[in-house]
Amino acid sequence: MITTTVEVAAQALSDGSLVLLPTETVYGLAADASNPLAVAAIYQAKGRPSFNPLIAHVADLEAAQAIAVLDERALKLARAFWPGPLTLVASIRAPELVCDLARAGLDTVAVRVPGHDLARAVLRAFGKPVVAPSANRSGRPSPTNLSDALEETGFAVAAALDGGACTVGLESTVVAVFDGKVRLLRPGAVTRAQIEAVVGPLSDDHDAVDAHRSPGRLALHYAPDAPVRLNVTEALPGEAFLGFGSVGAGEFNLSPSRDLTQAAANLFAFLRAADRLQPSAIAVAPIPLDGLGEAINDRLSRAAGFVG
Ligand code: TXA
Ligand code: MG
Repeated sequence: MITTTVEVAAQALSDGSLVLLPTETVYGLAADASNPLAVAAIYQAKGRPSFNPLIAHVADLEAAQAIAVLDERALKLARAFWPGPLTLVASIRAPELVCDLARAGLDTVAVRVPGHDLARAVLRAFGKPVVAPSANRSGRPSPTNLSDALEETGFAVAAALDGGACTVGLESTVVAVFDGKVRLLRPGAVTRAQIEAVVGPLSDDHDAVDAHRSPGRLALHYAPDAPVRLNVTEALPGEAFLGFGSVGAGEFNLSPSRDLTQAAANLFAFLRAADRLQPSAIAVAPIPLDGLGEAINDRLSRAAGFVG
């Protein structure tokens, strides 16, 4: 696959083709959100259960408001964190721009303005919302650089843009803002504390949100081929070890200085690199739960198959 320009990528989207799109979080497998055939091609390339709805990516807040009903609190969150790694789930305003298949038939839509210049340049050039799930095949770790993205779903795309290594490395935080409540659906790069600082305490009531349709709520998500063992302080012979801080000095220390931002950025790339060694298991050092640690531990538990 030859990497390409913003204009060629925008044209490919118009043609109904798929594009590998860099964002600040992870690489996305992108398609025109209004085109059901193009969206179907995403589900097929990923091998994703078609009930899992996708995120619509737009260039700015105005474009987000054209497709979603953003209330006062949604607007506060958008102004605080966009462009950036926050996805808002709100009532759909323009179903023709984000087709039923992209929303899995829901009357809500997930929308975000990515914090990557190249992504927003494509969105501006294309001029319509673009759905882009992480470019991995379903259940596997998300790609955080172009070569990993090509390895996962490169076979399905007409164009691929190289935006370098993703600076964040973990998917966006997904927050539902409707029914007068604010709920955290997927922990991510924007932390719970950062969200609560803007809109106050989050609601624990997930009843109104169709939980089984929600983010990586599936067990064994983000999983490498090797089994994953968590909270390990010493690896067994034959295991690859993802260290943290002073635990595990080896090749795959997520952050020797215990910096959670660095650990997040390294997580998926290290899981993949460790997996390539075909170890008996991937052992992972304990990672603190505060701040970004909530999202890192969420992805690790799913990689280990522990979250139902
Ligand atoms: O960082 C990211 O968000 C990346 C980059 C490429 O932008 N994208 C990404 O997309 O992670 P994806 O499709 O892998 O995850 C989107 C999550 C899904 O797990 C889905 O269940 C949830 O957002 N979601 C989308 N629409 C929803 C809705 N209407 N209600 C509840 N959850 C929704
Ligand atoms: Mg994903």
